[in-house]
Amino acid sequence: MSKQELMDEIVSEVQVCRKCRLWQYARNPVPGEGSLEASLMLIGEAPGYREDLEGRPFVGSAGKLLDKLISGITLRREEVYISNIVKHRSLKNREPKADEVEACTAYLDRQIQIIRPKIIATLGKHSTRYILSKVNIEVDGLTAVRGRGYKKNLLGLPVTIIPTFHPAAVLYNPAYRSGLEEDFQKIREELEKKV
Ligand code: URA
Repeated sequence: MSKQELMDEIVSEVQVCRKCRLWQYARNPVPGEGSLEASLMLIGEAPGYREDLEGRPFVGSAGKLLDKLISGITLRREEVYISNIVKHRSLKNREPKADEVEACTAYLDRQIQIIRPKIIATLGKHSTRYILSKVNIEVDGLTAVRGRGYKKNLLGLPVTIIPTFHPAAVLYNPAYRSGLEEDFQKIREELEKKV
């Protein structure tokens, strides 16, 4: 099967997914979007209000900031792949529960295996905790790991994992903004490195 067919299969499964409770409150699933050839994959937490309306990741206010960060490292949004830990919005945007993360992340794992990105940037504590747990790194707090590049074998693929702040956290607390911008520069440097 081609990459597109494999991804289409995931999208169809997510559309009818009942593996956890979140589908009941959601208007649209948000499987993820972007280039299947992306070198950079960005992983957020869960769809918010606008994402749920449109069925697309990061299209609300956090998305506007993310778009700026992406263009700030001379990439276009269509060149990266953007996904989330959970694919349906929760009521009142509460944080995903452990059983929801467990039920949903098989989709994300398959997306990573299709795209085979060089770099995965995890946005916020949930995606950082999940992705680093897969390479046996326990995360106590985001500050201890953010901005570092973890060169690891993830799901059988060589990848550099760069944890950073969630853009929504930066909108809430602008003091984090310079850190988020620095981490994106780190992403850029890693992308420019030859292998
Ligand atoms: N926040 C996220 O974590 N993901 C989105 O898609 C939008 C906001």
